[in-house]
Parts: sequence; C-alpha cells; structure tokens
Amino acid sequence: MRYTLDTPPMDVVGWEGFVYPWAFAIEKYQPKTGLVHLPPTIHSTFAGKGFLICSFVPRVTDTHPNAIPCPYPHSSVDCDEIILYLRGDFTSRRGVGPGAISLHPAGIAHGPHPGAYEASIGSVRTDELAVMCDTYEPLIPTAQAATLERADYHDSWITRP
Ligand SMILES: [Fe+2]
Repeated sequence: MRYTLDTPPMDVVGWEGFVYPWAFAIEKYQPKTGLVHLPPTIHSTFAGKGFLICSFVPRVTDTHPNAIPCPYPHSSVDCDEIILYLRGDFTSRRGVGPGAISLHPAGIAHGPHPGAYEASIGSVRTDELAVMCDTYEPLIPTAQAATLERADYHDSWITRP
C-alpha cells in the first residue's frame, strides 16, 4: 500500500512526532548483544526496497567467557556490503580509520585481519562507530569513486613479517 502526503510531514510548526527515517540518532541506538557473536543483521536500523542499513555503535561485546567477539570470515553472496567507518577502534580491521569506506561486492570473501580474531578474545567492549549498507543489487562505483580505490586493499589480509 502506498500513502502519499500532499506536503512533507515535517513541514509544520511545533513538530513533536517521530522523524524516522529522515533522521536517526545513532548515538542513542541501543544494540543487542549476546553470549556469542551475533550476525550483523542484529544491528539493522533501517531497511528499504533493495537495501539494509546496519549501525555498529559502541557496545558491550559477547559475554560468554570463551566468546570470540571479532566478526567471523564470511562471503555475502546475496548483497554488496559498503561500510563507512566513523569513529573508534575496529575489532576486525587494522588500517581503517574515520572516514574510511570499504566495499565488498557480493561473493567476495572477507573477514578479520590476521591476529584480530585472537586479539578480540577477552575483550568486553568495542568503541567502534560505523554504518553498513547492504544492497541486493550490485553497486557500481562512479569514475570518481574508482580513483579513490586502494589498489593494495586485498593485500591488507596478508601477514607481513
Ligand atoms: Fe561483511
């Protein structure tokens, strides 16, 4: 069902309604955590036709004493994953800072950098702040975006002596 408004609903004086999805107070988002690592979709904050937004915010990590809080290696065969890293120390990655963007097209295997998995054991919190968009159609980089690509990105998983 589609319902179309004649005017934008926020174009009023004294608006006290819910602004979602036009604005989302990510700092106030309270994510779910569990005994063991939960899949990224547990961090879903918005979904639309053909896409899903996940918000990774500072949180307590997995609480089981033998849990491995670091995300596991995976290959998302049904979607492209683009992540904007905003703040904090990312459990699974090194060399990723605020403003960095990663794009893992559907089917590309990716996961924690060497050592990150082991280093995450025993951690109790993460201070990462990042937003991921999964798309169910391929993302096609613009010519400008293509110039920003790090040609050696795939080498970041290689352990160097
Ligand atoms: Fe991923």
